[in-house]
Amino acid sequence: MKKILVTGGLGYIGSHTVVELQNSGFEVLIIDNLSNSTLDALQGITNITSVAPAFEKLDLRVKADVSDFFKRHQDIAGIIHFAASKAVGESIEKPLLYYENNVSTLVYLLQECNIHKINNFIFSSSCTVYGEPDAVPITESAPIKTAMSPYGNTKQICEEIISDTCAVSDVRSILLRYFNPIGAHHTAELGELPSGVPQNLVPFITQTAAGLREQLRVFGNDYPTPDGSNIRDYIHVVDLAKAHVISLKRLLSEENASDLEVFNIGTGRGSSVLEVIHAFEKVTDQKLNYKIVERRAGDVVSVYADTVKANNVLGWSAQKTMEEALASSWKWEKKVRNIT
Ligand code: NAD
Ligand code: WQD
Repeated sequence: MKKILVTGGLGYIGSHTVVELQNSGFEVLIIDNLSNSTLDALQGITNITSVAPAFEKLDLRVKADVSDFFKRHQDIAGIIHFAASKAVGESIEKPLLYYENNVSTLVYLLQECNIHKINNFIFSSSCTVYGEPDAVPITESAPIKTAMSPYGNTKQICEEIISDTCAVSDVRSILLRYFNPIGAHHTAELGELPSGVPQNLVPFITQTAAGLREQLRVFGNDYPTPDGSNIRDYIHVVDLAKAHVISLKRLLSEENASDLEVFNIGTGRGSSVLEVIHAFEKVTDQKLNYKIVERRAGDVVSVYADTVKANNVLGWSAQKTMEEALASSWKWEKKVRNIT
């Protein structure tokens, strides 16, 4: 059984990926500092898979602790690196927190990869690297635009750091550029639990339906799209998790075409904000309280993935529907809020 280190493995995407890794026969070792997650996720993973993954509470910003960790674990076959801070607005307020937490931690991990000859590295990148695209759907060869936030900049810098490292070392890497992850595990054992007021659309919708928020604000209906609201590519978190397992197997079996590969991970379909709201209303058979307000600063009009490369080269495609994703998010929200 190959041992895989998952950093940020108790977070939203990481925890779902640990489930898929364990279901595929990998032994998982999780590092997380619990800055944006709780031990409930460890229990959720264990409940779903009947296997408790090894977990170490560790802050990847502490270089000495990272170094010590790798001295104690010599048999790691690959790393999936999720741990990062991810709130776009917060990154504008606290840029140095983001550069330290997202960039320094990557450097420390790659240094250990070189020391301990861990050559398989998967990185959580984001469609945010494309900024406002010139054309949709976006292919992996679309230009990387000037980042619109320190968060987005960290993803661009991290991609470059990995690229430079792969060029001069034995490290092979796959960068996965996620579009908009939504949904939860169908068991409602795992899901997204944002701290404070949610910034993302789907958690705001489910919290409004659950009565925690009075009203959802739709940020603009005057965009040049069919219904005037923004278009995004919403990808079910379980489909996204599976893309990591496929990528990992590709690296472990040395099927990768080059030392650095990049894949868009989305559905390839764009959905407008109003379409998401109406799908949620249909799935849950209830009316959502929402109103149209001003545009939100920094929002791009339309972003969705060209997934041909992921489909043909990686052999991965999204399987789950928007309705399944929204139903699972609602089931999770109801469980967390004790709604029957
Ligand atoms: P998340 O916050 O739920 O998970 C990140 C986990 O990393 C958390 O459990 C947190 O406690 C942990 N962590 C953060 N800093 C750490 C540190 N210094 N040491 C150890 N653990 C640390 O976020 P997520 O939505 O699961 O995102 C995972 C990755 O995917 C991130 O790199 C994020 O930037 C990227 N991403 C997310 C989205 C999205 O919309 N959720 C989209 C594109 C890319
Ligand atoms: C989606 C749509 C909003 C909330 C962000 C990050 C990006 C990536 C994914 C990490 C937009 C609209 C939202 C609300 C609304 N993360 N909306 N009312 O902005 O596409 O991307 O998450 O890498 O980097 O920027 O996602 O969920 O915030 O917004 O109308 O209360 O929903 O305007 O059109 P976004 P989102």
